[in-house]
Amino acid sequence: MFSFTSQGNILITCHKWLSPALLQEVQALGFTNSTAFTTGVRLQGSLRDCIRLNVHLRSASQVLFELHDFICNHPDDIYETLVRFPWENFLLPDTYFSVTAQVSHPSINNNLFPALRVKDAWVDRCRKLSGKRPNTGSALEGAVIHLYWKEDKATVFMDTSGASLGRHGYRKIPGRAPMLEALAAAVLLSTRWDKTIPFINPMCGSGTLAIEAALLASNQPPGLFRNRYGFQFIKGYSADWYNEIIAQCTAEIKRDSLPKIIASDISTEAIKNARINAAAAGVEHLIQFETADFAATTLPEPPGVILFNPEYGERLGETAALEKIYARMGDFLKNHCQGYTGYVFTGNLELAKHIHLKPARRIPFYNATIDCRLLEYEMYAGTRRPAPKEQ
Ligand SMILES: C[S@@+](CC[C@H](N)C(=O)[O-])C[C@H]1O[C@@H](n2cnc3c(N)ncnc32)[C@H](O)[C@@H]1O
Repeated sequence: MFSFTSQGNILITCHKWLSPALLQEVQALGFTNSTAFTTGVRLQGSLRDCIRLNVHLRSASQVLFELHDFICNHPDDIYETLVRFPWENFLLPDTYFSVTAQVSHPSINNNLFPALRVKDAWVDRCRKLSGKRPNTGSALEGAVIHLYWKEDKATVFMDTSGASLGRHGYRKIPGRAPMLEALAAAVLLSTRWDKTIPFINPMCGSGTLAIEAALLASNQPPGLFRNRYGFQFIKGYSADWYNEIIAQCTAEIKRDSLPKIIASDISTEAIKNARINAAAAGVEHLIQFETADFAATTLPEPPGVILFNPEYGERLGETAALEKIYARMGDFLKNHCQGYTGYVFTGNLELAKHIHLKPARRIPFYNATIDCRLLEYEMYAGTRRPAPKEQ
């Protein structure tokens, strides 16, 4: 009989190129048997492991637990196979459920129909077994079944997350071009920042990077800001397991000896919103906010990490002004950031050339539909010219 401790395949999905950071997170949780691919990580584990993964992971989208795979050439194959699948081991007749699907098959141009066939399979089976018709709909507020169908192979999963883990639960006033929290966390995990040295984030916008840095440094996983997941609606779930994990996370919050985190932006409005967002995440007291041009941001003594996420200039006419900003960022790094590791996250590599520094690493990322890079600059300690504003 299947239980929450039975072993199976777990597939954790993420946005494109976040998987190296995701793999690092999964391995840090002790799942050393995991492997990464472009949009996710695979490992072996149980539904109970999925609870822990959902609570802890910062760069993930969904944690999927594999139920069954089968040959599939037509939507009717889905129904024929899944009406015989023992869903009653995972779902109760009165559990509200949703079906999501990702399909890549020449005969299908819309994911809705294959998803409908999955839904029909459990509804018909449930009615036959229990006389009850389970409630179903598109709101991911109960149990979630996920169908992945590519070419002639289909796999069904319990989506133990439900709504995506990519947003981290604290309310956010978006501001201009905000980063998705999962992306911001993965960017931080890709840097050389060790959570003990200062983290400086000029051009902070809505504050996502600084807030995620504060959450990382204080050891607060995203699960502390969310209390609804798909796993809570799977048959056999016990709230005690989840409460135990949350209690442990709460006990492990780091409150002392936290690093200096400074977030600045030239826009008063951006700083106002970033403060509100940080307060919503409970980390306002861990971040020093400054309304300033990036070159006037406070720089504590090195070593430290400084990370810029400037605009990329998607609109015509913006490029010339941005070329000057990128050139000034390069000068600032060179002249005032010795002993720091500098990073620029950008979706415009032409503009990045105006930084006029040779990156030590170019780490690929993807932001919405834009191919991006995190450029790393090692600013070796030397004679450090006084920064415009010293601490
Ligand atoms: C792409 S947004 C940053 C988005 C941010 N990562 C977030 O998640 O919200 C770029 C920010 O740079 C700020 N900015 C532009 N020029 C600046 C300058 N010279 N000094 C400081 N900040 C500047 C803008 O006000 C804007 O908030």
